[in-house]
Amino acid sequence: MELVIQPDAERAAWLVASLIAKALRQKPHLVLGLATGRTMERVYGYLVRMHREEGLDFSLCRTFNLDEYIGLRPDHPGSYRYYMDQNLFKHINIDPRNTFLPDGMAADLPAACRRYEETMLEFGGIDLQLLGIGADGHIGFNESLSALRSRTRDKALAPSTIAVNSTLFAHPGEMPKRAITMGVGTILDARTIILLVTGKSKADILAKAVEGPITSMVSASALQLHSKCRVVVDESAAAKLQAQDYYRWIYETESDWEEFRHPQPIQKVLPLTTG
Ligand code: F6R
Repeated sequence: MELVIQPDAERAAWLVASLIAKALRQKPHLVLGLATGRTMERVYGYLVRMHREEGLDFSLCRTFNLDEYIGLRPDHPGSYRYYMDQNLFKHINIDPRNTFLPDGMAADLPAACRRYEETMLEFGGIDLQLLGIGADGHIGFNESLSALRSRTRDKALAPSTIAVNSTLFAHPGEMPKRAITMGVGTILDARTIILLVTGKSKADILAKAVEGPITSMVSASALQLHSKCRVVVDESAAAKLQAQDYYRWIYETESDWEEFRHPQPIQKVLPLTTG
């Protein structure tokens, strides 16, 4: 695991978008694992800008989202399909047939989950998985006590997750209480992972996830087992980390980061929404 501290949420999102863009330029058939949520909105904003201004090409890219609510039609404004269409897919040159999300409307959910895993494998598995973290340490919708080897399955959401995410629904009571999510084991199978964490409300859980013990109480702590996981955070989220000096030193001295170290000033893509 390698952790990078950026001055603010804008710069952190820009760095993550730049890492994705670099991977896509190196491998146009990239299989990209995607996340939703507030933190990712800026990342997608930058990717859309890179497509428009620099010709970043998504035509051969395949995407698999981490999760989807159960019982919401794809055109429901609360669904993750809708989120992805609005925030990314409809603004770039991706073939919609190459964009996959779990089927939360399937009559046979276990079969749909198995099919999702099989489709990922047919495309060669995830090359780069993008992740955010929930207040309880979830990645995808792997709430506390999710097995560290779990696969794609349907899952009950934690009351804390429902409280946070239902504010994104026009009628909070409409938010489903269950979702399909890739498992922790599915996520760990990705060849590379980028976890993006911003805002002071995430400082405690970030410290537990990256510097605490590996425990199914904090699903994100399983990322410590992955050999190619990068964690990009802003100053606010980094506030509780013990080894900040070390992380800063790595970023300043390791050659991998050189091309990103002294970027031009960036123009914000969205107003700040995370706290
Ligand atoms: C959603 C997902 C979740 C979010 C997490 C953080 O696809 O994977 O794990 O990344 O709930 O959400 P925000 O960014 O809204 O704080």
